[in-house]
Amino acid sequence: MCGIVGAVALRNIVPVLIEGLRRLEYRGYDSCGVAVVTADGPQRVRSVARVAELDEQVREAHFEGVTGIAHTRWATHGAPTVNNAHPIFSRDTLAIVHNGIIENYESLREMLRAKGYEFVSQTDTEVIAHLIHSLYQGDLFAAVRAAVQQLAGAYAIGVVHKNQPHTVVGARAGSPLVVGYGKGENFIASDGLAIAGSAEHISYLEEGDVCEITLEGVRIADRAGNIVTREVRDVQAYGAYGGAVDLGPYRHYMQKEIFEQPRAISDTIPATDAFTPELFGDNAPEVFKGIDSILILACGTSYYAGLTAKYWLESVAKIRTDVEIASEYRYRESVPNPRALVVTISQSGETADTLAALKHAQSLGMEHTLAVCNVATSAMVRLTEFKFLTHAGREIGVASTKAFTTQLVGLFILAVTLGKLRGHVNAEQEATYLKLLRHLPAALNGVLALEPQIIAWSEEFARKENALFLGRGLHYPIALEGALKLKEISYIHAEAYPAGELKHGPLALVTEAMPVVTVAPNDALLEKLKSNMQEVRARGGQLYVFADADTHITSEDGIHVIRMPEHYGLLSPILHVVPLQLLAYHTACVRGTDVDKPRNLAKSVTVE
Ligand code: F6R
Repeated sequence: MCGIVGAVALRNIVPVLIEGLRRLEYRGYDSCGVAVVTADGPQRVRSVARVAELDEQVREAHFEGVTGIAHTRWATHGAPTVNNAHPIFSRDTLAIVHNGIIENYESLREMLRAKGYEFVSQTDTEVIAHLIHSLYQGDLFAAVRAAVQQLAGAYAIGVVHKNQPHTVVGARAGSPLVVGYGKGENFIASDGLAIAGSAEHISYLEEGDVCEITLEGVRIADRAGNIVTREVRDVQAYGAYGGAVDLGPYRHYMQKEIFEQPRAISDTIPATDAFTPELFGDNAPEVFKGIDSILILACGTSYYAGLTAKYWLESVAKIRTDVEIASEYRYRESVPNPRALVVTISQSGETADTLAALKHAQSLGMEHTLAVCNVATSAMVRLTEFKFLTHAGREIGVASTKAFTTQLVGLFILAVTLGKLRGHVNAEQEATYLKLLRHLPAALNGVLALEPQIIAWSEEFARKENALFLGRGLHYPIALEGALKLKEISYIHAEAYPAGELKHGPLALVTEAMPVVTVAPNDALLEKLKSNMQEVRARGGQLYVFADADTHITSEDGIHVIRMPEHYGLLSPILHVVPLQLLAYHTACVRGTDVDKPRNLAKSVTVE
């Protein structure tokens, strides 16, 4: 999702800005652009193609400058056209890049129109440009500070003005922004990785902060207008963020990331012989003893990890667990429980809805919070009392795979830890769970070896326009995740149901044309699931079953079976999701979609 880079230097900064955009590409975008300040006002180059194309354009045009801002845009207001791409200008004297959504843009636009401003794009960003322009009296820092007082919504911005050729002003509320300190040059960016190498240190701006970067240094004002300092941290080398990740023998990052799961999981399992609360933070032993329930907040795939965790937390730790879609929770009236542990789950740690839901829970007096997250430096990790870092490594494919399975590992460890603390897990069970976890990477390798059989199925799936996914109990969230993976990368409409729900409506959809993917572990619900499968067969539906070795489900007319290498008890969801990832991946490949960057989607969803 939108990315910002800005710089003030004494050298031509355009290559640094373009490289920054390239490093932010993983977030997803549909247009991009760069502007530099010249004596004639800001000049820009914009593109609805990839950053590589923008790079070619700037090289061909010998586009250069010492002060500039750049942007990857993920369209919210207005189509992804060159005209709507950022930087957006105001009266050819000011240029702005913006990440987020301005909620009161309509009233601001009317107010600015009345002052004579013309709007030439469909973006909400243009109101910020004109607003700052209208307030400018020779000091861009002051104008931005005055302007943000009038903005409602979420934003991170970078602004330059013709009259201040060595200044970039940034501001943030709701969307991330860092300032970067280099040698005689300074930066702003959505993420430290964009400027790593050029900046030696960074500071994370806080909500409501406005910063001014010049050749001499950085000034930061907080929401109240006080000049403040923010903690200065070392910037990780770009390589430490994952660098330019090599695809190796894989066709796409998604495939690579699916195959990295054994390693990612073994990196995520702590080197410990016991499940102790300290794994989540120093103060956790004390706090975890006092909690009486869990509230999980997350979006998308991470939400499905939360749904799976609910089964573990309630069955292993016997602790009441609610799971809420973050974007719903933040706006509904709920009954806060100060003794609940609020658990946010996020690959990126920057998802706007999850961050807002977390802050909402905190504002309701729920002070005990834990982030299960893949990015140690993310806003979410910084906001929560406790953390469990998944060590999936950088995930580039927009569709989450290894982040999901490592989240599941973290959440299972939480369930066993709480179970032990609450007297529901004895030493023998603890040892068994640890053994199961440790064997997971090997078990996953066995599942990955099923790829050729899944490729054969994907040829069939690629010709379909609809699919149903069935699971029961612990595997219902896995069916949901399988359906989400298929729809987001292959664009096949897919829905998931707990198998017992079929007869309450969706069975009407089942005909010979409907593939029904069934997650069939050998668990207590197997016989029930088999009955649900018969309901599908009786209507001519084609069953594609991922069955555990000992389920005795065999291939026959209309029933296609891929046998999972081993039954994995409570941790079975971590194995069963993998063939569903592979099925989605190979189906998308047959259909020729842009697997790693599916249409309309972004990796890091930093707008509401
Ligand atoms: C789907 C997917 C998304 C994310 C969701 C939350 O494959 O990746 O559904 O899970 O946007 O993102 P994070 O986990 O970064 O909060």
